[in-house]
Amino acid sequence: MAEVLIVKTQEEAGAIYAQAVGEAIKANPKLVLGLATGSTPHTAYQALAKKVKDEGIDVSQVRGFALDEYAGLDPEHPESYHSVIRREVVEPVGLNPELINVPNGALETLPHAGADYDAAIEAAGGVDIQILGIGTDGHIGFNEPGSSLASPTRMKTLTEQTRIDNARFFDGDLSQVPTHCITQGVGTIMKARHLILLAFGEGKADAVAASVEGPVTSICPASALQMHPHATFIVDEAAASKL
Ligand code: GLP
Repeated sequence: MAEVLIVKTQEEAGAIYAQAVGEAIKANPKLVLGLATGSTPHTAYQALAKKVKDEGIDVSQVRGFALDEYAGLDPEHPESYHSVIRREVVEPVGLNPELINVPNGALETLPHAGADYDAAIEAAGGVDIQILGIGTDGHIGFNEPGSSLASPTRMKTLTEQTRIDNARFFDGDLSQVPTHCITQGVGTIMKARHLILLAFGEGKADAVAASVEGPVTSICPASALQMHPHATFIVDEAAASKL
């Protein structure tokens, strides 16, 4: 079973993430970070930015790989994950943008973009610490229910539920939410050496319970974390309420 830490506030969760990552960077300045989007990691990135600044940690050589990207959305669109990762992590933490990778959602190269991305992760020596959020249906990255637990990075169709959940980032207009994406596979994510999954709020309680205590099944992609040698769930009391 994965380790579960129940915290009172998102700030507390962020501090645990920042401590783990900050210390790991001190020990290995070329650390490879796995990055995630969504609203959940925000406080973790803020806490890391503060720790890096307060302690003068050199992050100039830190490398990063984001989990996913919308397909066919201009990378300069404010809600593309290229933009979100730049705004939420790269700029506040002061990472070198040239060392931070986001899957390429351009339609022309989609057929091989997944394999190219996995090859790049492998060439970097693999991800050391991967931060994860979780969808209300138990998805990680954009691996929707039914995704193979051995899947590589590839194109996927977004479920209606995920598009509805994410419409808030597109002025609440569902028609603006892309229908497809490119995402690290569950198999890709599972290769990271340490997984830290954050979940806050009652809306995530069912997904957290299914992931931590339910059967390991592709119907709940996050349940794969039960098989990982070093996975940590950091959840608030509301997200833990169905455990
Ligand atoms: C999107 C992302 C996931 C993220 C999820 C939850 O679907 N692809 O990586 O975990 O949203 O988002 P939030 O953290 O905003 O609840």
